[in-house]
Amino acid sequence: HRLLKIGLFGFGCVGQGLYDILSREESLPYKVERICVKDPQKLRPLSPESFTYDWQEVLSDDRLDILVEAISDADEAYTIVSEALRRGKKVVTANKKLVAYHLPQLLALQQEFGGVLLYEAAVAGGIPIIRTVEEYFANEPLERVHGILNGSSNYILSQIFKQQKAYDEALKEAQDKGFAELDPWLDVAGADSRHKLCILTAHAFGRTLAPEEVAFFGIDFLGQQDWEYAKQHNAVIKLVASTHLTSDGELVPVVLPSLVDASDDLYGVEQEFNGVVVQGAYAGPQLFKGKGAGGHPTGAAVLSDIISISKGYAYGYKKLAKTTNAPALALDYELE
Ligand code: HSE
Repeated sequence: HRLLKIGLFGFGCVGQGLYDILSREESLPYKVERICVKDPQKLRPLSPESFTYDWQEVLSDDRLDILVEAISDADEAYTIVSEALRRGKKVVTANKKLVAYHLPQLLALQQEFGGVLLYEAAVAGGIPIIRTVEEYFANEPLERVHGILNGSSNYILSQIFKQQKAYDEALKEAQDKGFAELDPWLDVAGADSRHKLCILTAHAFGRTLAPEEVAFFGIDFLGQQDWEYAKQHNAVIKLVASTHLTSDGELVPVVLPSLVDASDDLYGVEQEFNGVVVQGAYAGPQLFKGKGAGGHPTGAAVLSDIISISKGYAYGYKKLAKTTNAPALALDYELE
């Protein structure tokens, strides 16, 4: 069968992770045909001829079957992804900030121009959590979805509690291992968890939240006395992102450092792992755990989207369509 050609934007941790997986898995019918990057001066592990610097040219290349956006800047990513969707392309993104801020517009573009966007890698790295709430829990009312959605801050907290490391040293390690954002404030302040919670909430509860609607507090304000306090209570601190439905039908989304003891599902989620507990009204709580950051886990999630999109899969946004208080744009979205 024919090789499907991929146009890749960005060659950082995620882009290289995907590239490496595809070069190891030779039997897969996918080939990275073009790689578009911004800075011609930057040292890269492939020869300069492998790259192009003109994103418009890649967007107009009709030989490409699937476009993958894996750049860090969310505004540039929006320019590229929205233009690709305007051209009716099949697009995969790993950019959580992009999706968190623009989901209603991205939905409207898909509806209007017939393109498709998947973004499994944007939430909880290698854990297939969006598809799980989309498919498995599509019809079940959910009570709460909560979890550890940022690998870097979880890595830092694990190093502090389990290895007695200092905060700064642990943060440096998270950066060296490729877990952290270019601006690590996003990780430790809880902003990255907040972006991911917005996306998860849209698929789980059917409401698109603006990131500003989510209260957040990071681990960057914590210190020795907090670590001691947790230890005195036989607990550790985890950065927990949570959305629950109150009995009045209100959604409460929040990102907060929380005391977690051995009786908690999230207690055993360590290092760069993420853990998400989906609590269905009938299924009860289920814990999904896996690597939330790093080139290979995130690249694997991008690959799973590439495979799904090439088979014709698109999110159903079922819950979004049922929700009365979702923005008008989203409500207009045509269902499967
Ligand atoms: N910086 C992110 C994290 C990468 O640490 O979770 C994965 O989204």
